[in-house]
Amino acid sequence: MYKYKIKNETREFEKYISIISPITNDEYAKVPSLSIKDVDEIYDYAKEQQKLWAELTISQRGAFLIAWADLLVEKKVYLANIMVNEIAKSYKDAETEIVRTSEYIKYTVEQMYRIIGQNTSSENYYGGNKGKIAITKYVPLGVVLAISPFNYPVNLAVTKIAPALIAGNSIVFKPATQGSVIGIEIIKLLEQTGIMPGVVNIVTGSGSEIGDYLSSHELVDFISFTGGSKTGENIASVSKMVPLVLELGGKDAAIILDDADLDFTIKDIVSGAFSYSGQRCTAIKRVLVSTKNKKLVEEMLIEEVKKLTVSNDMMANPNIGPLIDVKSANYVDGIIQEAIKDADLLIGNKRENNLIYPTIITNVKRDSELAIVEPFGPVLPIIEYDNINDAISINNESKYGLQASVYGNNINDLMYIAERLEVGTINFNGKTSRGPDNFPFIGFKNSGMGAQGIEHALKSMMKVQTIVINK
Ligand code: G3P
Repeated sequence: MYKYKIKNETREFEKYISIISPITNDEYAKVPSLSIKDVDEIYDYAKEQQKLWAELTISQRGAFLIAWADLLVEKKVYLANIMVNEIAKSYKDAETEIVRTSEYIKYTVEQMYRIIGQNTSSENYYGGNKGKIAITKYVPLGVVLAISPFNYPVNLAVTKIAPALIAGNSIVFKPATQGSVIGIEIIKLLEQTGIMPGVVNIVTGSGSEIGDYLSSHELVDFISFTGGSKTGENIASVSKMVPLVLELGGKDAAIILDDADLDFTIKDIVSGAFSYSGQRCTAIKRVLVSTKNKKLVEEMLIEEVKKLTVSNDMMANPNIGPLIDVKSANYVDGIIQEAIKDADLLIGNKRENNLIYPTIITNVKRDSELAIVEPFGPVLPIIEYDNINDAISINNESKYGLQASVYGNNINDLMYIAERLEVGTINFNGKTSRGPDNFPFIGFKNSGMGAQGIEHALKSMMKVQTIVINK
């Protein structure tokens, strides 16, 4: 039974929810299920404490964050073990996520020093006299609601919390249900730094009970959400005129041109499609290949997928582990069964509880369910294109527009395609992925709203204020 502080005192909670381990499908832990009344109390306190927090300097706020970054690394073994059990992330990937997050925090603190306002004179405008000087600076928005997903429960929580805090905001942090245990643990580490109470407030519980209330609360000044597109759309519809940054779903295509280096390309695609069992918004979720290369690509993909290790033992760092829950495994399995009715299975279509074996299906029609939806699991469709413009059209038919990868060696072809893909990031000869974390990260269409990446994240959580001096 996990407990945590509300208004700086550890509470006895009336209701708890079970966290089910994807590995055993048994209860792993219980976390508090907060009420509407708890949420009100937390928002009131976050609002009150934010004003004091914003009075501190960047260095003073940064000292707590840097101490937190060091504690995360110091406790990475303990934290990684929780992630293995709570979200079935391999131990190695869990540790990597924690170290990446620590680095993210430190870079964010440093980057904040470089977010500098400016001064402007009325002389710098048509016919302007010299009578006015504008001094512009960035100020915090206030209370930030950070909602993180199950698949990166540390990194995609902190990529919201760290920029918000260093910019002078306070945080109400709602982790995904599976991700609540690790969420509670990383907030406890932040509290160990001595940060003032009420600046970071965790809220766990049922999204159906408090989700809309959290997003529509009158005291929230900004919402940063990572998760499914449907939930993102709902947040946008219930939130009240507050700025949003939404990192949503994707259907990232790997477009293989005829002159691609297939040895490298096939390995890269398999890694991009199947890491964390495909449970990544930036996973490669479809392969577009021309008739010329298709047969060879199919054969090479089969051989590469055969090398993937599949296991429930996430301490052994398998390539493929169990999906996050039974519902997700059923969904992915259902998509596979539907797809193979009128397309051709190359490898996979095997399941053991939440474990879905890596599956590749070819001759998938561009308007079929598997070509369109985001399974969020280890299934990869191969779609044939006639020519480069056809490949561009297939990519752009998707309602998603997160990233795409284009593999080829002619820079003119690569640029021709890149300039026509309706996605936030185009990767030349590299798999789709978020990061390095100083890069912008943006979703077009149903893949998101607003921009992430450290500098964009910082500026999205501040507003510009101008003081005009009249001479
Ligand atoms: O699904 C979350 C998305 O941010 C994936 O991140 O680093 O695996 O590309 P990454």
